[in-house]
Parts: sequence; C-alpha cells; structure tokens
Amino acid sequence: MEGRSAECRGAPAAAMIPQMSRRGKFITFEGLDGTGKSTQMRKLAAVVWDAGHRVIETREPGGTPTGEKIRKVLLDSSTAGLAPLAEMALMFAARAQHIAEVIEPALAAGSIVLCDRFTDSTEAYQGSGRRLGSEAVRELHRVLCGNLQPDLTILLDSNPGASVDRARRRNKRTAKGGARSHDENRFEQETRAFFARVHEGYLAIAAREKGRVVMVDARGTPAQTHQRIVEVVRKKLRV
Ligand SMILES: Nc1ncnc2c1ncn2[C@@H]1O[C@H](COP(=O)(O)OP(=O)(O)OP(=O)(O)O)[C@@H](O)[C@H]1O
Ligand SMILES: [Mg+2]
Repeated sequence: MEGRSAECRGAPAAAMIPQMSRRGKFITFEGLDGTGKSTQMRKLAAVVWDAGHRVIETREPGGTPTGEKIRKVLLDSSTAGLAPLAEMALMFAARAQHIAEVIEPALAAGSIVLCDRFTDSTEAYQGSGRRLGSEAVRELHRVLCGNLQPDLTILLDSNPGASVDRARRRNKRTAKGGARSHDENRFEQETRAFFARVHEGYLAIAAREKGRVVMVDARGTPAQTHQRIVEVVRKKLRV
C-alpha cells in the first residue's frame, strides 16, 4: 500500500452482515524503522480477510490524499530545517484528517482497521527522540484525535542498529522506481543516539500501556514474527 491512501479488502457479503451494527477493531503496528511493520501488516491483513472480516490497511503519516501530501513533507530528506514542534504539528494534522476521513468511518462500519504507525510513533519519535516530551503528545492526542485508542498495538521490537540499517538498505533498493518511488529517508538519517531515545520511548509506552500494547520479538524470520502476531491477535481480539 506504499504511496497510496487507505486500501479496503471487501469481505464476502454473508460475512459482512453480522458486523454491520458492531464497531470494528483498531490494530496499530509500531516499532523502529525497519522492524518489519509494513511486511507484517500485509501478512496479518491476509489472515484477517481470510477469516471473513472486512479489512482496511492504512498508514501514518498519510492514509488520506491530504495526509499523503503531508507525508511527503515529513519524510522527504530535502525537507530541511523543520522545527521539531512543526514536525509534531504536521504529524497530528495528518492524523486528525486520517481519523475523520478513514479510521472512524471504517470502525463505525464494523471493519478491522490495520494501521502502520499511530500516535505511539509521535510519542516515541517526537516526544522521546526529539525530546518534546510525552505529555505534549498525549495532550495533543486528546485535543486533536478525541483520544482515540487502538484496541491492540503490536510493538515490533528488534535491535535498533540492525533494523534501521535494514530500512536504509530497503530505501536504497526502492529509491529508483520501486514501491517507494520518492525519497523517504529523512528520519533514517538520524543518529544512533536519536534511535536509542526512540527505542526507550517505545519501551516506556509498553510499560505504561500493558493492556493495549503487546511487544513482539521481531528478530526472527518474517514467518516467525507473523506466527507470533497471529497468536496475539487471536488471543486478544478473537478475530
Ligand atoms: N524478519 C525479517 N527478517 C529480515 N528482513 C526483513 C524481516 N522483516 C522485514 N524484512 C525486510 O526488511 C526491510 C524493512 O521491512 P519493512 O519495510 O516491513 O519495515 P518497516 O518497519 O515497515 O520499516 P519503516 O519504518 O521504514 O517503514 C524490508 O526490505 C523487508 O523486506
Ligand atoms: Mg514501513
């Protein structure tokens, strides 16, 4: 789904009927660059769809036409000198639009919404990595996002150095004409110390949000990580 706004997989009509009146489920994928979020989200979407649910796959920053324009500003390494507070404000601008245009309507219609990054990323990257603090992020989330909380957050945990190197290699491979046809390297150029703070930020969120956030070891093969995620989703959400 790289480079596009939210995608929907339709479920068979019979499977949709009992879901019409029930609110859907909101599942987010979090973790450092290159931990495998996008890979694992695609794999989970296929399983959830095969189980007969309607699935929306979406991502942040982005997920709407306006949000994808904001994504370009945020991730393109030619964006120079963006103030940390401006960066955080743009993340939330894209998110507020995303919630209004995609996430809330899909949940109201009973869909399972899978989202590649959400507010935990802002808390880890801008709050911890850029040192803007968790409270600012959480307050903005309350004001701008109606404090919408995922039903489940899968936090993919890996060695920060190894995963960021993987993301950098992936970006180099896809820079010319691949799934990411434009430059999305601005964050990958950050220092090891920055990513160490982001990692600490994620660990602090997991410790605080024990009921919502499940840490999954992402150091194995994609198939091993997928198996762990399916177990977690079945156990926590019974989907
Ligand atoms: N378990 C794994 N083992 C080895 N390589 C993997 C694994 N999972 C994903 N990859 C590869 O590592 C790269 C990064 O994976 P992916 O794009 O899914 O990560 P991401 O968390 O979405 O990264 P980003 O935050 O930069 O979007 C890709 O080239 C992917 O094919
Ligand atoms: Mg990704």
